[in-house]
Amino acid sequence: MTAAPDLAHLLKALADPTRLRMLALLDGRELTVGELSRALGMSQSRVSNHLRLLRETGLFAERRSGTSTFLRLAPDRGGALQDGLWNAIHSELATLAAHRKDLTRLERLLEDRERSQARLFDEIAADWDKIGADFATGQARQRAAACLVPRGMVIADVGCGTGYLARGLAGLVERIICIDRSKPMLDQARKRLASERPEAQVEFRRGELHALPLRAAEVDGLLAGMVLHHLADLGPALREMRRALKPGAPLVVLELEPHSQDWMRDELGDRHLGFESAFVARALERAGFESVNVEPVDDHYTPRPKRSKSTPTELPVYLVRAFAPRSP
Ligand SMILES: C[S@@+](CC[C@H](N)C(=O)[O-])C[C@H]1O[C@@H](n2cnc3c(N)ncnc32)[C@H](O)[C@@H]1O
Repeated sequence: MTAAPDLAHLLKALADPTRLRMLALLDGRELTVGELSRALGMSQSRVSNHLRLLRETGLFAERRSGTSTFLRLAPDRGGALQDGLWNAIHSELATLAAHRKDLTRLERLLEDRERSQARLFDEIAADWDKIGADFATGQARQRAAACLVPRGMVIADVGCGTGYLARGLAGLVERIICIDRSKPMLDQARKRLASERPEAQVEFRRGELHALPLRAAEVDGLLAGMVLHHLADLGPALREMRRALKPGAPLVVLELEPHSQDWMRDELGDRHLGFESAFVARALERAGFESVNVEPVDDHYTPRPKRSKSTPTELPVYLVRAFAPRSP
């Protein structure tokens, strides 16, 4: 950071209308030296000479980005220039025709900048999904969408495992009830969620999908992620889910497309190697669900075998959304 100049230096730097015009243009916005030259209608070398003198005052800050240097008035004008003097400079500039022309040129220049920024996105639109997939976990975007969920809802995550899905909604809804038959899984879920959320927001219940530890119409929504393929028979579990949902409330199922990874039966306890989405949709309708809809998702699941020699394979997934009947 530049040391505050003595008064004589500061006044010398300010004793030039061009330099005052420059400072006024850099007030509240960043400009490159090239843009500053265009706004002033002057050559870059003249602008650079003036900048050299101003640099010692600490009045402006510089930021390098790629090959460009961006200039702007330092916060609080680097402490060098009192408000009273700055206001006087502004009133003086307001009467200066040259400054008004600067502002007109600046406006055009900023419009050009905006247009070229917009063009940049026009050019990368076709590749954005690849560029934009660079988030580390994807949670930021999912959470952004999940934040729109109405407050006051009670949601159950059945076959919650370690509570991965529950985490996406915890803190946004009134309460989330995590249900699993496995105590160690529930312990993991508790460890993860209870440390992040107040007790009242998350509850853990041990139980079976075909006899859910939920009262009739207790919940406003239900998640069943990657669990149906563990069940011998979908009917009893889906009917239980319908019973636990309020009339008209939604159920979301996340499932695997049919696959041939036989090792998943032994190592992960899968009873079905995925399902056709139409099969799950029909099972939901048979269990009394309405408005059943398959929602394609651009994602896949890649389980890693521990004992089998099979190579990890990307398995496509899908969602099915369905609603409990409006009248019970
Ligand atoms: C593959 S994990 C999925 C966990 C979690 N939903 C997720 O998306 O990460 C399946 C979970 O379902 C549980 N599960 C399997 N069959 C169940 C049943 N009949 N009743 C209750 N939980 C069951 C397992 O204990 C396991 O924690």
